Amino acid sequence: MRMLVTGGAGFIGANFVHATVAERPDVEITVLDALTYAGNRESLAPVADRIRFVHGDITDGPLVDDLVRDTDVVVHFAAESHNDNSLGDPWPFVQTNLIGTYTLLEAVRRYDVRYHHISTDEVYGDLELDDPSRFTESTPYNPSSPYSSTKAGSDMLVRAWTRSFGVRATLSNCSNNYGPYQHVEKFVPRQITNVLRGVRPRLYGDGRNVRDWIHVDDHNSAVWAILDGGTIGRTYLIGADGETSNREVVETVLELLGRDSQDFDFVTDRPGHDRRYAIDSTLLRTELGWEPRFADFRAGLEATIEWYRAHEDWWGPRKDATEAAYRAAGEAVTK
Ligand code: NAD
Ligand code: TYD
Repeated sequence: MRMLVTGGAGFIGANFVHATVAERPDVEITVLDALTYAGNRESLAPVADRIRFVHGDITDGPLVDDLVRDTDVVVHFAAESHNDNSLGDPWPFVQTNLIGTYTLLEAVRRYDVRYHHISTDEVYGDLELDDPSRFTESTPYNPSSPYSSTKAGSDMLVRAWTRSFGVRATLSNCSNNYGPYQHVEKFVPRQITNVLRGVRPRLYGDGRNVRDWIHVDDHNSAVWAILDGGTIGRTYLIGADGETSNREVVETVLELLGRDSQDFDFVTDRPGHDRRYAIDSTLLRTELGWEPRFADFRAGLEATIEWYRAHEDWWGPRKDATEAAYRAAGEAVTK
């Protein structure tokens, strides 16, 4: 099978490529990645001799046409992925998440290539802390930020191209991922690397916002379950019952690193900050028999901390610029 993986030099895409090389030796992988600030070729160094890497943009129609023509399946991870950045400058989000997805859809439509679309639970908006419900495949879309609204728009394009043009697509909307190779702008690696550098972790607002954490390898095993057995045209929610408040995450990181669990700061809240995400992944589990392997979030976090401790060469060069960007955006300690 020839597979085109977009965004394979990013966090989830790189882990997907590693897992696929290890577990599916019959898959010939081509990675297409623009190497934005979030892409890192080093993340693919362990598998560099087993894949083809193309440095290019998913909005480049002729390039995408060339690559899709010679492939059997496209797995589309490439995106502008960080909410905070989308509040500062939405344009790259519109460009990559909407125009990029459109460009890929037109190519898979032309060559009748199987397509899997990676998306997020953030398209559903948020839930109250005391709401007993969770997101399901039939929850109405209600995105809050430029990031989540452009992801929602890209999902809509996929659904329309499937219905109107018969594109053989599946979609998945996953909850917050953690694990190796995640950019230090994101919550979990930002706090781990802060503590490793002797800096206090930073909680937005009151720290009570809840995210439904899943290990990146569990996300990717679910993507493979969908590629193997998913129903064309269907959306699958991916989640591992990992609801945890941001404050609990920071306290656990501090504890696991042998520090006082209250040694953190509250900082300026994110505008429009979604309160809670929660996924009901019954469809994926019952239809495709998928189960997460990293059921214990604390153990997964401990392994992730060990990875960051051992790979300062990977994250160190990006840490100062990332923190400078947060300062420039006006982040300040509130209490
Ligand atoms: P990331 O920011 O770490 O990686 C994105 C990758 O896409 C980078 O390598 C970047 O260089 C590449 N890219 C960006 N714009 C491009 C363009 N125009 N052309 C080609 N390549 C481009 O993101 P991630 O966290 O790995 O997320 C991957 C996908 O998973 C995204 O679609 C995201 O919406 C989705 N998702 C992420 C999470 C999460 O918790 N991180 C959860 C659910 C869904
Ligand atoms: P993030 O990793 O940006 O993912 P998302 O916005 O897609 O959920 O943030 C996860 C949660 O952590 C979110 O509620 C915002 C919060 N957060 C902090 O409290 N402090 C931080 O320094 C960052 C980056 C995020």
